Amino acid sequence: MSIEEKILNLKKLREKAYSGGGEKRVRKQHNSGKYTARERITKLLDEGSFEEFDTFVEHKCTSFGMEKTHYPGDGVITGYGTINGRIVYIFSHDFTIFGGSLSKTFAAKVVKIMDLAAKIGAPVIGINDSGGARIQEGVDSLAGYGDIFLKNVLYSGVVPQISAIMGPCAGGAVYSPAITDFTLMVKDTSYMFVTGPKVVKTVTNEDVSTEDLGGCEIHNTKSGVSHFSCDNEDELLETIKELVGYIPQNNIELPPEKPTDDPVNRQCFKLNNIIPDKPNKPYDVIEVIEEIVDDGQFLAIHKLFASNIVVGFARFNGQSVGIVANQPKHLAGVIDINASMKAARFVRFCDAFNIPIVTLEDVPGFLPGTRQEHNGIIKHGAKLIFAYAEATVPKVTVIMRKAYGGAYDVMGSKHLRGDMNYAWPSAEIAVMGPEGAVEIIFRKELLHSEHIEDDLKKYESDYKNKFANPYVAAKKGYIDDIIEPQNTRYRIIKALEMLRNKKENLPFKKHGNIPL
Ligand code: HXC
Repeated sequence: MSIEEKILNLKKLREKAYSGGGEKRVRKQHNSGKYTARERITKLLDEGSFEEFDTFVEHKCTSFGMEKTHYPGDGVITGYGTINGRIVYIFSHDFTIFGGSLSKTFAAKVVKIMDLAAKIGAPVIGINDSGGARIQEGVDSLAGYGDIFLKNVLYSGVVPQISAIMGPCAGGAVYSPAITDFTLMVKDTSYMFVTGPKVVKTVTNEDVSTEDLGGCEIHNTKSGVSHFSCDNEDELLETIKELVGYIPQNNIELPPEKPTDDPVNRQCFKLNNIIPDKPNKPYDVIEVIEEIVDDGQFLAIHKLFASNIVVGFARFNGQSVGIVANQPKHLAGVIDINASMKAARFVRFCDAFNIPIVTLEDVPGFLPGTRQEHNGIIKHGAKLIFAYAEATVPKVTVIMRKAYGGAYDVMGSKHLRGDMNYAWPSAEIAVMGPEGAVEIIFRKELLHSEHIEDDLKKYESDYKNKFANPYVAAKKGYIDDIIEPQNTRYRIIKALEMLRNKKENLPFKKHGNIPL
């Protein structure tokens, strides 16, 4: 064979690989509202940047007639490319080949790019669209999953790992995305569950649809397994691009800077009047966030889950930060189990990847009640304490209104190594709110009172004057300064600049034991 013929042969083999499981299956994929594995890669990465590995790898299975059926690449496309010029490693399940099911060979391809990503220090993006373990391979397939889980764990906190769920993701396969940092799902076409509706019916006698068991809405609103709900595949791929723009390539780099024309000392006049006169009246903390960050741009994570706390990425004078904010608009911004878990995981991500944390606080406390207690608010709330206390990245906190009880300590307080702690003049920092407090400390007086309403008002007013303000904490140095709301952007930027070279360590240990 001449070299020209050999090159022609190579091109033919590549073409075969690029055709996936064949026209019919590709059509079925498109008809079900999904792009193919290759189209997804092309849409996600910078044009022409994708370099593929292992295009000609084939499975080695000889059971159930599998030796007669081979597809080059074996159902997963792997390689690297760039997003806005920055390297990412990627694997993309090809549902048109054996339903994207995972063989030992398939797993080895995925592990290869994960190892490279860790060596080079770049994110791993996994596009999941798979029928799970390749049934014909038996335990070899399970071994393949195990190999991937191990790498997910070893590289957690080393390089960012992102999972796009763009089709089925079932059985033990769900645990790989669950270990990664962010999971994104698409409405109507993606689902995740440990066992499908048929097995659920057999085991628990429940009738449930695929969507209600593990669809995009369920995992974004109820379970919190997914961090982003996307209307379609294009939106999901765009969201990944936006997300990686906020985070560094690995745990020893800093996040990328994005220059802005938004002035450092822009006055945020709107904030002077954002706190309602009545203490129990809500407002939308997203308005505060959008007012203070660069160009009003905020990428919310877990937007539909535990809405009483808001977490996400933004920038201050070009510097990427993670924002954690109580949301008075939902459940008065109280901290419950889901809010604790949501914020704790986010704080830990930021800390692992050198992203400063800005906390905006307006919290009446932890949610009381049997449901919360019986489901473990104690251990789940402790996660948030653990995460904040452990975090060594710069931490800037602004108390806008309420900072009551344990929630005051939790939300990036000085006592958990908050670096710069500010309060607005509207801040109320105390063990509890005036109503609850006076009923306890003036119980005897109120029992014998002849003018209970008047006395209550007087006690409440005394309590408010004494405690429901930021000055008690400021006098003790727990608050570094009381700032005018309109200066919030400027003060946060100055604090972040000052803290840029912060170094803080934890005592030597193998690892801590976060309450799980
Ligand atoms: C081998 C599989 C497969 C699998 C699908 N296919 N799943 N081949 N192993 N796990 C093949 C089908 O035979 C078919 O081949 C093609 O993929 C497309 O599948 P369809 O059924 O035609 O597609 P659809 O109707 O869209 O249904 C998709 C599906 C269904 C819901 C995912 O295929 C399905 O239920 N598959 C089995 C899912 C499952 O139980 N997996 C094991 C989970 S347990 P042809 O040749 O016709 O195109 C698990 C354990 C992991 O994963 C443990 C890790 C620790």
